[in-house]
Amino acid sequence: MPQIVILPNANFCPEGAVLEVNSGISVCDALLENGIDIEHACEKSCACTTCHVIVREGGQSLNEASED
Ligand code: FES
Repeated sequence: MPQIVILPNANFCPEGAVLEVNSGISVCDALLENGIDIEHACEKSCACTTCHVIVREGGQSLNEASED
C-alpha cells in the first residue's frame, strides 16, 4: 500500500503525518480523506492549482499528470 509522508506544516498539518493510501488515489483526495484540508478551489477539476503540493521524494512512483 502506498505511503504518503506529510512534513509538518503550521497551517495544514502541524505534527506531520504518515498516510497509508490506496493505489490510484490522487494526492489531493488522500489528504482530504485524512483530514488534511488543503485548498481545492475548483473541486479538483484541474482549473485553479490551489491544491498544489511539493513532492520531495518518490515522484517517480506517481502517474503522469492527466485531466483525471
Ligand atoms: S482543486 Fe486542484 S486544480 Fe483546482
